[in-house]
Amino acid sequence: MIVQEHYFTCSHMHIQATSSILGAYICEVDLSNLSESEWKEINKAFLEYAVLVFPKANLTDPQQVRFSKRFGKLETLTGNPLIKTLWVSNLDTNGDILPLDDDNFRIIRGNEYWHTDSSYMPVSAKASCLSAVTIPAEGGETSWADMRAAYDALDSATKSQISGLAAYHSFYRSQEELGQEVEIGSRYGFHRSGAPLRPLVKDHSETGRKALYIGRHAYRIPGMEDNAAQELLKELNEFACQPCFVFEHSWSVGDMVLWDNRCVLHRVKPYDYSKPRVMRHTRISGDTSEFAPTDPHEQPTHFAAQSDQSAN
Ligand code: OGA
Ligand code: MN
Repeated sequence: MIVQEHYFTCSHMHIQATSSILGAYICEVDLSNLSESEWKEINKAFLEYAVLVFPKANLTDPQQVRFSKRFGKLETLTGNPLIKTLWVSNLDTNGDILPLDDDNFRIIRGNEYWHTDSSYMPVSAKASCLSAVTIPAEGGETSWADMRAAYDALDSATKSQISGLAAYHSFYRSQEELGQEVEIGSRYGFHRSGAPLRPLVKDHSETGRKALYIGRHAYRIPGMEDNAAQELLKELNEFACQPCFVFEHSWSVGDMVLWDNRCVLHRVKPYDYSKPRVMRHTRISGDTSEFAPTDPHEQPTHFAAQSDQSAN
């Protein structure tokens, strides 16, 4: 059950923890015109709660970009360095509903599986910010799972089993799992550099807290037989995304949520795909500590056919 707190009665910025293990609601603050002390308070809450919900923030596109930039540089998700917002939407550019077999729509459907943003990039994301622009009447809720709490709750045998392990992350592989072969180099995240190798247990660069770093893009563990690695990753994902570690938000138009990709997984629930769902996404780049070396041999299985193209 989701308990909506009575955050609307306050006269100055109010931070209210959710009734889940992570997340807080923040209200009574003008996000388009933050003072330095308000920003510091928000940043402190971000590091503590990992997911911040700003109910009815109603930010415009440039205001969301400006707010996101307080946390760091933004990733260019659109291919155009001047456009920092990505529309996570089931509409085409004419505003018509995308057909179910459309490539962009199939990529968006991938968001229904637990993941963390940009773990497949050489530099993974620090945070993401999502605003609800158009939402369906039912479904389409977004959930976040606390990988700090999940790590803490592992038994000590599992903690020691995974302490030295790392996994490759690839967006190609996770879409392949859903039956989609994405063209090499065709979109953000589908690059030619190979897959980054990331430890399963991550030390948070700002808080020092340990967290599981897993999700759907992780697919292979060096030193482990592939089936055993996939079984381990599946078990860890299932353990870490149990309801006791999860906060779910049911969107109203204008709501904005900011989350820490370094220590949470997220996913969206299915909805009626014949109804529009339009979300505005900005993504804050990780700092140098989020860099992981990529292995150029870790490529999608359909790479060989195209390997006459540049390997970079
Ligand atoms: C994302 C994402 C979930 C949603 O934008 O990265 O996973 O609720 N979105 O649309
Ligand atoms: Mn995502």
